[in-house]
Amino acid sequence: MWISTSRLLAYLYGLVFAVGGLAASDADTDFTSVRSQFVKNYSGTGPSEPGEKYFQESSFHYHYDGRFANEPLSDKETPPHLSQLIRTYLSTMADLGAETWIMHGTLLAWWWNQKIFPWDNDIDVQISEPTIHFLDEYYNMTEHHFDIPGLNGGRTYLLEINPNYVFRSMDDKMNVIDARWIDTSSGLFIDITAVRPDDERRKDGDTGALMCKDGHTFDENDIFPLRNSHFEDFPVKVPFEYVKLLEEEYGSQSLTATEFDDHHFNEETLVWDSASKRKRSSRRRSAVDLPVRTTPLKYKLE
Ligand SMILES: *[C@@H]1O[C@H](CO)[C@@H](O)[C@H](O)[C@H]1NC(C)=O
Ligand SMILES: *[C@@H]1O[C@H](CO)[C@@H](O)[C@H](O)[C@H]1NC(C)=O
Repeated sequence: MWISTSRLLAYLYGLVFAVGGLAASDADTDFTSVRSQFVKNYSGTGPSEPGEKYFQESSFHYHYDGRFANEPLSDKETPPHLSQLIRTYLSTMADLGAETWIMHGTLLAWWWNQKIFPWDNDIDVQISEPTIHFLDEYYNMTEHHFDIPGLNGGRTYLLEINPNYVFRSMDDKMNVIDARWIDTSSGLFIDITAVRPDDERRKDGDTGALMCKDGHTFDENDIFPLRNSHFEDFPVKVPFEYVKLLEEEYGSQSLTATEFDDHHFNEETLVWDSASKRKRSSRRRSAVDLPVRTTPLKYKLE
């Protein structure tokens, strides 16, 4: 399915958000009160029984969709495919007016040099609950084609929404991933998880409690307001308290240790060099649009 009229709707939807953004920048306006106008309350809605597992992983690798491939990409092919996967995702979400941000290992990679780790083969992103409803309503199974420099014919990506996203509890262990952005040329995909109000914890008076079906819990102030940065030379949003979130999930070592998975972080070039091959990563940095690290370097000297 190609985008047509729904694209216009998204555009109008985006405008509504843009107006909201203006209001939020007004110094007299409390950020959370403005946000809540746009955040529909979905608590208590949805079925009471979890469904069967919806997304299938390929038999050859858990990060590939077997409908589109029979084998994983080579080590050399993987990084450029991942890079275009996240760029096309971010670009599409921006076009749709759908707010998204990076999390988990992808956030850690961003912290170091705003690049995917050379040894990684997955990318984690999050969206809010109203956004997954929006994507379900207008964009499930939409295909998005991109021209890619140096690649004949470009590539097509598919946005697929798990119908079980409406089941809002962590009990649904088979459907913890709410949506996927899939590279139909290789089967490689991005896991998209929806961050939702945590009804249980909110009942106990924890008004900012958030959760994902994959078991992660957050506080609204850890994630919002999102910060603007770049990842893979592309505009991206990151959670407000990224250092706290990374230290909680990976330990403070993860922000200081410059040796990892047979790689060494070169503080001059800001590249993870492969130790065993004794050669620099073949992925070159673009000189334009490079983000500036916002975390004080003292985190690396502790
Ligand atoms: C959301 O709805 C539920 C049930 O309808 C209600 O108990 C809860 O207070 C609401 N939360 C907010 C933030 O409005
Ligand atoms: C998205 O479309 C697929 C294919 O038609 C369908 O299996 C799935 O249930 C849909 N997701 C939602 C959220 O409706």
